[in-house]
Amino acid sequence: MSALAPDRDDTAAAPNALRPMREDDLDAVHAIEIRAYEFPWTPGIFRDCLRADYPSWVLIEDGRVLGYFLMSVAAGEAHVLNVCVAPEAHGCGHGRRLLRALLSIARGRGAERVFLEVRPSNPGAIALYHSEGFNEIGRRPRYYPARGGREDALVMAIELLGEG
Ligand SMILES: CC(C)(COP(=O)(O)OP(=O)(O)OC[C@H]1O[C@@H](n2cnc3c(N)ncnc32)[C@H](O)[C@@H]1OP(=O)(O)O)[C@@H](O)C(=O)NCCC(=O)NCCS
Repeated sequence: MSALAPDRDDTAAAPNALRPMREDDLDAVHAIEIRAYEFPWTPGIFRDCLRADYPSWVLIEDGRVLGYFLMSVAAGEAHVLNVCVAPEAHGCGHGRRLLRALLSIARGRGAERVFLEVRPSNPGAIALYHSEGFNEIGRRPRYYPARGGREDALVMAIELLGEG
């Protein structure tokens, strides 16, 4: 699977393609978000990210949004804000494609390391991040809302320096 060149919109060339997220994607994006997460982002959070010009991309298949990611990049560090694939399309390699594109775009914007938080109760995502080279570097106690209380976050990071 190949990562997307960071600055290309390839939707014209391929039926399954990555392109920057637009405001008119937000209904489709949020429809995936509420099916994928027990504690989803609100539409306003996505809108704020777009207006803040955070790198935000969608994966399109047959004209429909299948997944997306958002991150912030500043001072040589990128922070993954959200990576998500529509539940009916899990397990087909889309999450890995999104993550590789995210890393490529972060590198293209000068990031030397990338951070993320993930729930310890999300072993699929943790396995994906490990398999792409992320390591656990810490834990944020009670970071996430959870049923009946809060859940810690695992903090993971990858160094991009020296990679191709
Ligand atoms: C995490 C997520 C993005 C993975 O997307 P995906 O398209 O299903 O993942 P892929 O098919 O690309 O799988 C890539 C790797 O992830 C791991 N993985 C994915 N789902 C897994 C599962 N249910 N159990 C164990 N490992 C899993 C595997 O290592 C897999 O590699 P393999 O197929 O070679 O074994 C997707 O499950 C998702 O959107 N979940 C809901 C939102 C979410 O939790 N996002 C992460 C927030 S931190």
